[in-house]
Amino acid sequence: MHIDGSTALVTGGASGLGLATARRIIGLGGRAVIADISEELGAKAVADLGEAARFVRADVTDEASIEAAVDAASPLRFVVHCAGRGGDRARILGKDGSPGDLATFAEVVRVNLIGTYNVLCLAASRIAENDTLDDGDRGAIVLTASVAAFDGQIGQTSYSASKAAVHGMTLVAARDLASRQIRVNTIAPGVMDTPMLGRLRTDIREGLAAAVPHPKRLGDPDDYARLAVAMLENPYLNGQTVRLDGAIRMGPR
Ligand SMILES: NC(=O)c1ccc[n+]([C@@H]2O[C@H](COP(=O)([O-])OP(=O)(O)OC[C@H]3O[C@@H](n4cnc5c(N)ncnc54)[C@H](O)[C@@H]3O)[C@@H](O)[C@H]2O)c1
Repeated sequence: MHIDGSTALVTGGASGLGLATARRIIGLGGRAVIADISEELGAKAVADLGEAARFVRADVTDEASIEAAVDAASPLRFVVHCAGRGGDRARILGKDGSPGDLATFAEVVRVNLIGTYNVLCLAASRIAENDTLDDGDRGAIVLTASVAAFDGQIGQTSYSASKAAVHGMTLVAARDLASRQIRVNTIAPGVMDTPMLGRLRTDIREGLAAAVPHPKRLGDPDDYARLAVAMLENPYLNGQTVRLDGAIRMGPR
């Protein structure tokens, strides 16, 4: 399958990894429907990307708004699901021995995991209506986990659990959707230079970049976009989570 002439739904496409992906898809001759919760960032993204981009305000945890985003992207061929949030950096037991907060744990899981399932189901049901192309695919979906799915650090229970679950559902989704000729793959990014990471102190960001074996830098959002496009286009890549991390392995803290 080729991006040229096709429409992709890019959740979280108003910022960071999603915005870079929308840009690359448009650069390859595709169209991008950006589904994001932020109207302000969405308007900026569309102004930046031009007429091949469209913004739909949508919350990935909300069925009606994702249905509307899928409608706006019809005929939908590709999905790159980037919308997500960071964790709460809360230990299971706080320094004073108090237990972690269940409500914040549940909220991270709601956005990162339930939101992923919602996008996956609603988008797949629409892609399943497409004709198959020459390579036998009706469409393809890319999800976003994190290296925290594998090397979760102290205080990352909610985030790691939500992202490990996205990795876990990748093979199941590929198997479930095989009879509909829809492929599903996941990218597990390392430390990427996006606004999500921009919230960290400069010395922490520099330390993270120095910890990457090679190349010794934070990941560029376009590194993610290039892999997302390769996953969408390569007909034999299915059910796979790929770490995109310069060989970093996160330590306990
Ligand atoms: N930046 C990193 O280092 C890194 C590393 C590993 C994984 N990730 C994952 O990559 C994905 C993208 O992260 P990013 O770094 O580009 O972050 P970002 O903050 O730059 O972009 C995330 C976008 O998602 C949107 N969003 C958040 N909640 C939403 C919701 N409920 N519905 C719709 N949109 C919502 C935000 O408005 C924002 O535009 C996330 O899932 C994140 O967990 C990022």
